[in-house]
Amino acid sequence: MKDFLVAPSILAADFANLQRDIEMINQSQADWLHVDVMDGRFVPNISFGMDIIKTMKSMATKPLDVHLMIVEPEKYIERFREAGADVITVHYEACPHLHRTMQQIKATGAKAGVALNPHTPISLLEDLIEDIDLVCLMSVNPGFGGQKFIYQTLPKVKKLKELIETRNAKTMIEIDGGVGLQNAGVLVEAGADVLVAGSAVFKAENPVETIGRLKDILK
Ligand code: DX5
Ligand code: ZN
Repeated sequence: MKDFLVAPSILAADFANLQRDIEMINQSQADWLHVDVMDGRFVPNISFGMDIIKTMKSMATKPLDVHLMIVEPEKYIERFREAGADVITVHYEACPHLHRTMQQIKATGAKAGVALNPHTPISLLEDLIEDIDLVCLMSVNPGFGGQKFIYQTLPKVKKLKELIETRNAKTMIEIDGGVGLQNAGVLVEAGADVLVAGSAVFKAENPVETIGRLKDILK
């Protein structure tokens, strides 16, 4: 059976009950907590920053998977690490010196991730794949939760898997946006290692059970 992780996205939580929702994740079979940082510049929405992440870290028992949808992320890497990020993912489209930014993230002790927007081809990572701990394939246009899965992501997962295997790299593949019980199985079969799920978990009648069903998707 293929091993994969489930990372509920806190963006879809009830912010008035953040503690309750994080405790729910703690009790569940979730592996990571996905944390979306938006700056209103790279994406047309603003979410939260380091102080809220620090608070989340104090409540969460699972690693924090911090997805930076911000311009000039290199200015803030160390501060996100200090706030409690275990994985730090920057966008390919926001990083003119991506190799340097990967080294910068690794130097803090965090895992280094690169996210690709839906229109950004896998081939752009060919010369860097060995240096990336995680590639996050955006399966919606970043900025908002609750959007529809873009189906062209599926062939991208297979292409990325091929690239990783040819190079003998250890890179993990994460899928972010519109993921739920309806497509989790095909994504994992195609090569996904981490499934991010916001609405599918938090808008479900029973979020803990939904996380369990996602974990059992291939059983
Ligand atoms: C989108 C975010 C996603 C989002 C996923 O910009 O990066 O992580 O929270 O939410 P759902 O699962 O509802 O599409
Ligand atoms: Zn995200």
